Amino acid sequence: MALRNIVKEGDPILTKKCRPVEKFDTKLWQLLDDMTETLEASGGVGLAAPQVGIMRRVCIINVGEGPVEFINPVILETDGEQEVQEGCLSCPGEFGIIKRPAHVKAEFYDRNGNKNEIEGDDLFAQAMCHEFDHLDGIMFKSKVERMLSEEELEELRGE
Ligand code: CO
Repeated sequence: MALRNIVKEGDPILTKKCRPVEKFDTKLWQLLDDMTETLEASGGVGLAAPQVGIMRRVCIINVGEGPVEFINPVILETDGEQEVQEGCLSCPGEFGIIKRPAHVKAEFYDRNGNKNEIEGDDLFAQAMCHEFDHLDGIMFKSKVERMLSEEELEELRGE
């Protein structure tokens, strides 16, 4: 396994649509392993393949219950609404207020090419929306109600 560099906002790679995964091979497994390690090292909740420079529909989410690998994910249903704070590993130190569904049901493939379904609430639902958006080149900043001010960020950091 190896850490991969996280692409930062401003890189055009983050605004492009990713292609579906077609081969569930060792190259994909290497990408998933590296992304899991990179996410763990970053302290974030989710990481999408374009954030490490790979234009494929792959992302990892870990809300503290272990990493979940999503390949070619599709949202099937959303329900409710939550107004939450959100950031992105590609926009370090920046946070915004955003409205996300409170509940998300999605289907996706695992690393062996098996189709699965998952349902998530709260942070997991938020993370699915955020990470799946990355696969279509959509950054959270294009959906925020507003970004947090410098004072609010200081408070968040406990200064
Ligand atoms: Co992000």
